[in-house]
Formats: sequence, structure tokens, C-alpha cells
Amino acid sequence: MQRDDLPWWKKATGYQVYPRSFCDSDGDGIGDIPGIISKLDYLAELGIGFIWLSPVYRSPMRDNGYDIADYRDIAPEFGTLDDFDRLVTEARTRDIGIVMDLVVNHTSNEHDWFKKACASREAPEHAFYIWRDPGPDGGPPNDRTAIFGGPAWHWVEAVGQYYFAYFSAHQPDLDWQNPDLRAEIYDMMNWWLDRGIAGFRMDVVSLLGKDVDTDRLEEGPYLHEYLQEMHRQTLAGRDVVSVGESWAVTPRTAPLYCGRDRGELDMVFQFNHVGQGWDETFGKWKPKPFDLVRFKRVLFDWQRALTDDGWNSLFLSNHDLPRQVSVYGDDGRWRVRSAKMLAIVMHLMKGTPFVYQGEEIGMTNVVFERLDQFRDLEIEGRYAEMMAQGLAMEDFLAGANLSGRDNARVPMQWTGGPQAGFTTGTPWIEVNPNHAEINVAADRADPDGVSATYRTLAGLRRRMPVIVQGHFAPVTEDDPRVFAYTRELDGERLAVIANFSAEAIVFQTPDELVGEGECLVANAGQRTAIEARLELAPYEAFALRYR
Ligand code: GLC
Repeated sequence: MQRDDLPWWKKATGYQVYPRSFCDSDGDGIGDIPGIISKLDYLAELGIGFIWLSPVYRSPMRDNGYDIADYRDIAPEFGTLDDFDRLVTEARTRDIGIVMDLVVNHTSNEHDWFKKACASREAPEHAFYIWRDPGPDGGPPNDRTAIFGGPAWHWVEAVGQYYFAYFSAHQPDLDWQNPDLRAEIYDMMNWWLDRGIAGFRMDVVSLLGKDVDTDRLEEGPYLHEYLQEMHRQTLAGRDVVSVGESWAVTPRTAPLYCGRDRGELDMVFQFNHVGQGWDETFGKWKPKPFDLVRFKRVLFDWQRALTDDGWNSLFLSNHDLPRQVSVYGDDGRWRVRSAKMLAIVMHLMKGTPFVYQGEEIGMTNVVFERLDQFRDLEIEGRYAEMMAQGLAMEDFLAGANLSGRDNARVPMQWTGGPQAGFTTGTPWIEVNPNHAEINVAADRADPDGVSATYRTLAGLRRRMPVIVQGHFAPVTEDDPRVFAYTRELDGERLAVIANFSAEAIVFQTPDELVGEGECLVANAGQRTAIEARLELAPYEAFALRYR
């Protein structure tokens, strides 16, 4: 492929905005679209190429917008369709695309389709959802449980059937096997694409081909047939990006979604590198101590799997995950340096990097002391289950503080002032008290702030083809403290080296890395050479371009 033929989204850095928590323009305590518009200059200065906007559609917000009641309207608390169009235009003038979140595995139970579906079996919308008669004992068809707790099947008296809802009762699953439903979705996608958006992030995409009767939900039998159809009917021929979220995809199945000739998606968000840190029984609620070798193994496998075909997404954070500096770095003494290290290591691998709001200033996890401070429905569901199993309240809170989704959802910290400059009102969820110290204003005023490194990385990516396209080669895969790799394109070669520990260490550099060059980015002083005996400061990271 010619370098200048590269699609824009390979050269761009993505930035996720969680609208509810980003910036509130009208003092109701909830972030909104005019608030996002007011921060576009900030984002442009950061050098990002597109925004992945978490859902802004009309919604009862049981799952903060991942429960859509109207696919063709904006939630009033976020603004209007006019505001949205203005966002697209204003972003475009700054060379930033808007990528919409497409949540089509399920709707809200308040969507008109679902209301009609529940009123009568004769309504065409009834067949938009997944209904089954009671099992032989009169109960649900099977004992599948929902992701957010409780059973996945729910009885509706008026139609005498159960509907299937894999996340929560408020999020009934759409029946993708129904061609009329699929046509409605494609139509809606084209309606947004015609408004000038830059693409879609597709929520839980690997669930779309499910077969509930054989209980094959993830990567089910119809998945790729539907994704190919969706591509043909919506994305094909448009210069947009598509990213599918999947908790099930593996390096082995990824090429099926994003392989060059598949005609499906451009890339996937995979979570193997996140899940490697979870407990076998208790999952994310009881994370294992961080193990760099395990972590590298997963990321390197993904780099290898998509070397020649397909494309990686690079991220450690999003609105469902705890703050990356708290999980993989050190959110105390080495917060700034380790936050930069994570950025350097992630952004210089092969793929498109995604930054989650606040990550660029090294925002940390929040500590809530009481249950009523949490807002996430997952915490609610989890709490009910855990109490039933006799877990102590303090143990529950510890798990929620470590791994809960509200960590990423507390307001963006703009200033050290009241409510972190997020709102003039009362925020829908409490701000992290550490905003007094950690905030955009303070970080930007500091030439050594975390965001300076993010700006550098985004700039490097724009102008250096080796970062976008260069061959990736892992180094020191078994070293428990050092994360290192090289990138190479047309004789140009980079090395990236990071000390993932809070100790100063001496790295016995493999011969292939020893050399001199120019420092592209660093978090603990510039380097112009990589010596055979390399002394690395705590959490030090840098990239060097060899001469
Ligand atoms: C995805 C979203 C998450 C949401 C779920 C159900 O995993 O990222 O926030 O709760 O899907 O839509």
C-alpha cells in the first residue's frame, strides 16, 4: 500500500468523550453537546483526529445512554439535533471527525418498538425482539443470566411470552435474525452517515449473530453474514471508520472482522489485555497483581496476529474500565511519570490509539465510601448478588472502587475550582476530590505535564509513517520489568523502551537495541543513545529513532 493511500484513521489519534461527564454548559449537572463544542479547541490542541462520542441519543439513561429510546433524536439533557450538527461542523473545521456509538444489540425498554412489541404479538415490532414461550415448567426458556445481574428472560403478561435481555431488563435484545429489523438499522445508520459523521463504534458487536436457542451468544452463527451485509448497505464506499467492541474476540478470530477482504469492520476493540488481570472466579471484582509478562504476551500476540492483515486498536481505558494509571501505573508518587509511560508504550505500537477523557492528564480512580455515591447499574446489580452471597459491605466497596465503571465516569477535571470546573450546578456523580491537584489547567500550565506527552505522541503519529505502518518486533518478551519493542519501515528504525516498575533498574540491552539516535519522546530526560548497560529510572520510558 502506498503511504499516502493510508486511510486517515490509521494516522489519527482517537479520543473518547463520555458526554455525561465531559463538560456541562447549562448548569444542570450533566455534561452536554454545547459543552463538548466549547472544548473542541482543547481537543484540537491535543492533536486528536476524531472523537468517539459515547451515546447521545434519547434515552432513559438506565445505562447512561447504552439504552436507546430513539435512534434519531438527541437526549434533551445533552442538547438538540441542531447542537449535534453544529458539533459535527465545528469539529470538522478543526480536522476532527465525530464517530457515533452504535448500540444495536438492544434498545431501551422505552423504545417505541418495544412498547408496541409488548402490546401485541401481531405488531410488526413484536418480531424486532427475541421472544420465547415458557419452558416446560412454565418458567423461562433457559437459565441464562444477565450481565448486570438477574435472569436474562422476562415475562410480559400481555403477550404471554418471555423476552430476552442479555444486559438488563431495561435493555431488551433486538432480533437480528429478522431482516426487517436489520433494514431499519441500516437505514438509521445511513441517516447519521449522511449528516457527516466520521463513522461508528459498534457496541458489543460480537453478540449480533447470536442464537439463543442453542445458547451461542458471543460470535454466534450469523455474525459475519450480518456484518458483511451491514457493511454493504451502509459503510461501503464511504470514507469513514468502523470499530467493533467485542469482549469475545481473540487474535484468532479478529481477522474475520477486520481482515482486508472481509468487508466488515476496520478494527475491533478487544479486551484480552484487560481480562488477563482478572481473577478466574471473581473476574474484575478481584483483580490479580499486575504481571508485565502476561500483559505483554497478550499485546504482542495481537500485534503479531494483525501484522499483515487487519488493524489493531490501542487502548487501556474507556468508560467501562478503571483508570489506567491506577491499574497499570502508580497513581501516587509516580503518577505523572507512569501515566506518560503508559501513553508512550501504547501509542507507538502498530494500530490506532484511543485516549479516554481525562487519561491525558493522568486522572486516577476515585474512592467512594458509601454505596449511595455510586451511579452505575452494574454496581447496583452486583451489589444485590454479592449481598445474597453474604459478602461484607467493605469488601464489596473495595472491589467497586478498584474495578467499578464509575471510576471512569466521575466528571472531567478541568480546574481546581468548585466541581472541577465541570459544572456550575450539582454534578450527577461526585467529582474526585483530587481535582484540586489533578486538572487540565494545572497540567497544561506545566511543560512537563502528562498532556504534553500526549500532544507529542499525536504529532509524531501524524508525521512519521514508521509509527503508523512500521513493522513491529517485540523485544525481551520474558523480562518482568521492561516493555520494549522496535518499529521499522524503509530503513527507518525506532526503539521504544519502558521500565514498568517503581525501582531504578539496570537493563542488559539486547545487541539489536544498542545504538545512537534522536529522542522522539521521553518521560525522564532525553536520551540520544541506548547503551549495552542501560540504567532506567522508575517508570522511565522513551522512544529513540536510530541514526
Ligand atoms: C458495552 C458498553 C457498556 C454498556 C454495554 C451494554 O459494553 O461499552 O457501557 O453497558 O455495552 O450496552
